[in-house]
Amino acid sequence: MSRSAHPAGPRHADVLPEGHPSAPPADLNHLDRKVWASTVTRTPDGVVSVGGIEVTRLAEEFGTPAYLIDEVDFRERARAWRTAFGADADVFYAGKAFLSRAVVRWLHEEGLNLDVCSGGELATALSAGMPADRIAFHGNNKSVDEIETAIRAGVGRIVLDSFQEIVRVAHVAQSLGKRQRVQIRITVGVEAHTHEFIATAHEDQKFGIPLAGGQAAEAVRRALQLDGLELIGIHSHIGSQIFDMSGFEVAAHRVVGLLKDIRDEHGVELPEIDLGGGLGIAYTSDDDPREPHEIAKALNEIVSRECEGAKLRTPRISVEPGRAIVGPTAFTLYEVGTIKPLEGLRTYVSVDGGMSDNIRTALYDAEYSVALVSRTSEAAPMLVRVVGKHCESGDIVVKDAFLPADLAPGDLIAVPATGAYCRSMASNYNHALRPPVVAVREGEARVIVRRETEEDLLRLDVG
Ligand code: LLP
Repeated sequence: MSRSAHPAGPRHADVLPEGHPSAPPADLNHLDRKVWASTVTRTPDGVVSVGGIEVTRLAEEFGTPAYLIDEVDFRERARAWRTAFGADADVFYAGKAFLSRAVVRWLHEEGLNLDVCSGGELATALSAGMPADRIAFHGNNKSVDEIETAIRAGVGRIVLDSFQEIVRVAHVAQSLGKRQRVQIRITVGVEAHTHEFIATAHEDQKFGIPLAGGQAAEAVRRALQLDGLELIGIHSHIGSQIFDMSGFEVAAHRVVGLLKDIRDEHGVELPEIDLGGGLGIAYTSDDDPREPHEIAKALNEIVSRECEGAKLRTPRISVEPGRAIVGPTAFTLYEVGTIKPLEGLRTYVSVDGGMSDNIRTALYDAEYSVALVSRTSEAAPMLVRVVGKHCESGDIVVKDAFLPADLAPGDLIAVPATGAYCRSMASNYNHALRPPVVAVREGEARVIVRRETEEDLLRLDVG
């Protein structure tokens, strides 16, 4: 299918349906630096390139849909977090955002640690050579097998999430003749200002042990008694896609309060606290995320101040950013298949992917932006909804956006900021084949996760 403009493309529907909040941007060809990976640019002939390679070439070579990840940007962001927190703190990249062996190697080389939350993520990390002592193992229901594998491998810490797990991990460690370094994850009772499904520190949810009612203190009491455990700290993760630092402030205050109570009751000063991840990124031009150095400064100040007040030695801080590192470094490249103008409403643009490669819009009402990337256009803006090819009307990739009215089948469009929680949450719905992840750097592109094939699908179907 041709990638050039279709002369008979719809010129239509630059109409805002009632209640639609935003106006079209002044220049549809402009790429807002906030939402695109750092090496993304428009070449003089109008095609967008990443890592020095034009998307038209990438589409030809790797097909669409495809996730294109900017390795230089990834490394720069990882390094920025590492530098911002310095030698007295640890940055654990949250692998759930996106994990592959190449990513593990980049993290290792840039001096970051890794947070994994399943046997699969642990296997990926170990197989790519991440030293086990730089891995933290998370999860609210780790299996005994996973616990055993993690302890045998020598993971640096296991984050305990329930009373059962305290006993389970202690038991497995002891049976292996080991003493496992652990943290206890607590819920501090903060209402993070984010989507309900990704807020994690209010009490009515499945993660962690509530500080309220003395439960966290009781968990500490039990952990300190068990020979198989070395309790090194307290963990708190308040949620995801958060811009406002006040939630972290309250969390740090309460975690330090618990450290003080532990010191008073047991005479022990725990050496570490982990404040989790959750820092927001720009999905659209309306979002204004903070830089890692601002976040580091704010968190260090809060913790030092709280510790001074409590007359505690300042513990070693760790953080677990996932989205903030990988999210902005990738975009999804799609080919436009059909264009359906609905008079007075909007124009539906169907692409060759959908909710199987990005479930976030359907699941969280997430907002994304989109751009025509295979050429420029001077046509008027039209209001579009970018939808996928799945058998479901909620199969929406970008709910409301503007694309040029001469958009045509065969054009390439791209959705930025899809590095986090897109490939990692991708599904085979309708037996879709999950797209590849292609890493681009200084004029070279290489597949780091290959496209799924029908053979892959059929291999699992053994009936
Ligand atoms: N640490 C812990 C213990 C976590 O549970 C998470 C995310 C992170 C760190 C990393 O959070 P980040 O910095 O990436 O926000 N699927 C949802 C997000 C779920 C996050 C789960 N936990 C989404 O697509 O928005």
